[in-house]
Amino acid sequence: MRIAVFASGSGSNFQSIVDATLEGRLDARVELCVSSRPDAGVVDRARLLGIPVLVLSGSIDVHLAELKETLETQKIDIIALAGFLKKIPSELIQLDPLRILNIHPALLPQFGGPGMYGMRVHEAVLAAKETISGATVHIVDEEYDSGPIVMQRTVPVLPTDTATDLAARVLKIEHELYPEALQLFAKNQITINGRKVSY
Ligand code: GAR
Repeated sequence: MRIAVFASGSGSNFQSIVDATLEGRLDARVELCVSSRPDAGVVDRARLLGIPVLVLSGSIDVHLAELKETLETQKIDIIALAGFLKKIPSELIQLDPLRILNIHPALLPQFGGPGMYGMRVHEAVLAAKETISGATVHIVDEEYDSGPIVMQRTVPVLPTDTATDLAARVLKIEHELYPEALQLFAKNQITINGRKVSY
């Protein structure tokens, strides 16, 4: 399976996916890194690993033709969004058989939607006095954070937690969860029936 990781941040999830492929836990290769920021940490990580990088600044729609061509040239089977903050155009979502997954740092359907990313998510979880949070891998559809859920894992929220503490605890499980979810696709073990995902 050939993966493109779309990321705009430090790229720790990008790294965990690459590591899983190199360590034989994920039967796939990361063939492309797409970022909306030329100065993102993920861009440096990809370049160090010799993985091709495509930087899309501004609206994705402007770059859609170039992006589609690159995905096709690299024969990408699956896109893994990992801290990519731009909306994915529906033309890309509708490309068949391309799959698009996203990881979200909370237990969807709670604490998702437009504007809910990064630290804001953890601040909202703490403000709601939740005792459990976690991470969700889901299939991307036309709305933010609303597609069918593939896998979730929980972590405790401790009474003394700051948003930074909680983010670090969640990020740690994201690094396990995303490669595991991707492996289900690599092994063709996923069946999707409407909003129901089974494996
Ligand atoms: C991750 O926590 C990911 O779940 C989050 O951005 C972070 C990226 O970190 N994504 C969202 O909030 C999307 N709504 P990373 O660059 O270290 O992988």
